[in-house]
Amino acid sequence: MEVLKYNLKKIAVITGASEGIGAALVNELLVNNYKVIAISRNSKKLSKLKSFNSKFKNDLQIFSADVTNLSQLLSIAKQIDSPDLLILNAGIYEPVSIEKFSVETFVKQSEINYLGVIKSFDAFIKKMILRRVGTVLIMSSIAGWIGLPKASAYAPTKSALRLFAQSIRYDLAKYNIAVKLCSPGFVNTKAVKVNNFKMPGLIEPDIAAKKILKNLNSKKFEITFPWLFSTFMKFLTYFPDNLSYKFIKYVTLYEKEK
Ligand SMILES: NC(=O)c1ccc[n+]([C@@H]2O[C@H](COP(=O)([O-])OP(=O)(O)OC[C@H]3O[C@@H](n4cnc5c(N)ncnc54)[C@H](OP(=O)(O)O)[C@@H]3O)[C@@H](O)[C@H]2O)c1
Repeated sequence: MEVLKYNLKKIAVITGASEGIGAALVNELLVNNYKVIAISRNSKKLSKLKSFNSKFKNDLQIFSADVTNLSQLLSIAKQIDSPDLLILNAGIYEPVSIEKFSVETFVKQSEINYLGVIKSFDAFIKKMILRRVGTVLIMSSIAGWIGLPKASAYAPTKSALRLFAQSIRYDLAKYNIAVKLCSPGFVNTKAVKVNNFKMPGLIEPDIAAKKILKNLNSKKFEITFPWLFSTFMKFLTYFPDNLSYKFIKYVTLYEKEK
């Protein structure tokens, strides 16, 4: 008698999967027995990810798509089963300087970091709602907690994601879908190479990925790390504004203004 094989592995969909935190999450999910659907724009980087994980080739599917393009995302959603885990991670960081102020960078970061998450959410959530199970993890940042120098275009996108996650979790709770917000400190990826200052508590992407997966099934709404830096930053948000402003200005810009 033929034995029917069912795919008992959980399915994870992740955007922004070709490098950095996303690629580290792909590796970690595969090691933890997930079937992974990895999405980002650059197909060369995705193929590299696939060969790096050749041991898991049957469990890793790669799709080239831009999170700003809803029809590309919908076409992927049509081809796959309902995700158990939806990680909305794709994002970019471009610092702003007042001397080179350009609306374009605000539009670009809003379209990728914020609306890109909303479009990816829209594309994949419908099947999850029908199945009434799963977790959505939204990649925000500690930069979304308090205004920081150079982050006037990036930080509002991450803050908006925080409010989106906080709001949508009420709607999704009735469908048994959990929403989690991830707010990392500095992670050593291509995105932070533009920073010309010492990044306190900088950690490697594989450590970040392990921390995220470890907390996935916890009751916590927000996953934040590294502990010391995130606790300090959280503390700063409770300071009176004139104190936090002076402190941040002192530690980040003081040297340049002397
Ligand atoms: N690194 C940090 O310190 C840090 C801290 C807090 C939060 N975060 C957040 O973590 C997430 C990942 O950042 P990272 O540091 O790992 O950055 P990264 O190394 O630059 O990786 C970004 C990923 O997003 C993809 N991506 C960018 N634009 C995209 C688009 N329009 N459509 C689809 N995919 C796109 C990139 O792939 P393609 O180029 O192939 O599309 C890449 O795979 C971001 O949301 C970032 O804001 C990072």
